[in-house]
Amino acid sequence: MSNCQPVIRLDRVSKAYDEGDARRIVLHHVSLTICKGEFVVLLGKSGSGKSTLLNLIGGIDVPTEGDIWLGEHCITALSDHERTLLRRKYIGFVFQAFNLIPVLNVLENVMLPLELSGARGGEVRARAQSLLEQVGLAHRMSAFPDQLSGGEQQRVAIARALISDPLVVLADEPTGNLDYETGQTVLELLDTLTRRAGKNLVMVTHSEDVIGIADRVLRLRDGHLIESPATSPAPNGRASTQYVTSA
Ligand SMILES: Nc1ncnc2c1ncn2[C@@H]1O[C@H](COP(=O)(O)OP(=O)(O)O)[C@@H](O)[C@H]1O
Ligand SMILES: [Mg+2]
Repeated sequence: MSNCQPVIRLDRVSKAYDEGDARRIVLHHVSLTICKGEFVVLLGKSGSGKSTLLNLIGGIDVPTEGDIWLGEHCITALSDHERTLLRRKYIGFVFQAFNLIPVLNVLENVMLPLELSGARGGEVRARAQSLLEQVGLAHRMSAFPDQLSGGEQQRVAIARALISDPLVVLADEPTGNLDYETGQTVLELLDTLTRRAGKNLVMVTHSEDVIGIADRVLRLRDGHLIESPATSPAPNGRASTQYVTSA
């Protein structure tokens, strides 16, 4: 911890929604520093603000109060357009509902973020193809999302999240729509391609296996972020989860 190189920093971040005359405070003065390479699991019951927090970190949404930094960039000081550019460069998102573009095929879906950033040509295609190979979908590159299973769609989404070689991958209940076994495959891919590749991974999940290998476990409760005690080392126990067996 002493060598913490901050990648994500929140300084007294609050988020409130106005509903008629009422104001619903979802996050209340949340402060947080995530260091380079840390794998953070975010817990909390439904409606506690987990997605809100990820969307703030990823610059999809803006806080009502407080500041957020990605590396040395204070994203809350940026215009919408500047924030979008920064997000494309630094952040990869994996959503519970996959969120692939239905009219684009698999390869095009994966290439899209780089193309939106202005990259063109064979290099983008080669990188997308390589990522699709890594997620085991080299044979489905011309398929459309509705021709794929949920697990396959999520593997495409993982490839898409990584196309820009982001610093941070944010995964919001990535196995929430998948059966257990398919979910394990998706978690293994996220683990291999992000965490063990030295990227930051911030994941909302209820998977005990994942919680067992996280560097930090954070919990949202009543608008506050609570740091759970670090998972105790378990040399012969849960730490050797099934899906982290492949080297
Ligand atoms: N755009 C919005 N407008 C109003 N309320 C919202 C909006 N987005 C989320 N909320 C509310 O904020 C709270 C937290 O939502 P969310 O972050 O999605 O929770 P979680 O992901 O933990 O289930 C919920 O009460 C939700 O209804
Ligand atoms: Mg959510």
